[in-house]
Amino acid sequence: MFAPEVGNEVAERLARAGCVAPEEETGELLASAPDPATLTAWVLRRERGEPLAWIVGGVRFAGRTVHVDPGVYVPRAQTAELALRAGDLLPERGRAADLCTGSGAVAAYLASVRPSAAVVASDIDSRAVGCARRNGVRAVVADMDGGLESGAFDVVCAVTPYVPSGAMHVLPADVTRWEPRAALDGGPDGLGHVRRLAVGAARLLRAGGWLLTEIGGDQGTLVAPLLAASGFDSLTFWHDDEGDLRGVAARFRSATSSAAASR
Ligand SMILES: C[S@@+](CC[C@H](N)C(=O)[O-])C[C@H]1O[C@@H](n2cnc3c(N)ncnc32)[C@H](O)[C@@H]1O
Repeated sequence: MFAPEVGNEVAERLARAGCVAPEEETGELLASAPDPATLTAWVLRRERGEPLAWIVGGVRFAGRTVHVDPGVYVPRAQTAELALRAGDLLPERGRAADLCTGSGAVAAYLASVRPSAAVVASDIDSRAVGCARRNGVRAVVADMDGGLESGAFDVVCAVTPYVPSGAMHVLPADVTRWEPRAALDGGPDGLGHVRRLAVGAARLLRAGGWLLTEIGGDQGTLVAPLLAASGFDSLTFWHDDEGDLRGVAARFRSATSSAAASR
């Protein structure tokens, strides 16, 4: 509905504002804006660095559109790999928990590929839980080590905050200015939440169930012993096309071996 010159002008403005994919973003803005006044307001918001997903109301994730409310962490394309792997590990009628669910992108993906499975989710942020529910996810407001039934799950996944506090400044300025710090900052070595996740997932998983979590940088060497100490084995790390570490899957042996390992 917008003339080509409007698109050209928007793309130029976004490029001047520092957007890395101005043409692509222009396409999304033009496709979603209901009228010229809204488009003008949206371009201004984007020029100020507000996440595109908050402006247009959603983002594509693992082949689906996910609603993303303002204030909620925007699911990243790289996280689709974790979702795909979790889907492969989840039995048809199995049970999965997505902790730190944010918009519920991973949980919604799991529910879509395993419609007969029971998928639940939690997040400490009530805005995130409201958003996840808008995405059709059964979500509760809870800290990552509370709110869900013990020993019941085949798969537990979580994209916890895992950026080391000292590396927060390396993130793009728009990310740190707009997205909630509590969704990003993982403490001194970035693994503060992952340590708690390992203990909590050992409580939630049945023996033989799988934990999947996102990590990066050199966290692989740190995460291996902490997962082993909570009773996990069969660690599989995955990397992106540039060879950077992106995540780990680990199998829970049993509560007994977990207790023995922690002695
Ligand atoms: C990096 S975001 C990941 C969101 C989502 N899984 C995704 O990939 O789009 C981390 C999420 O963890 C949540 N969070 C932070 N601390 C938490 C805690 N102690 N317990 C539960 N959730 C927490 C944040 O609110 C945020 O939604």
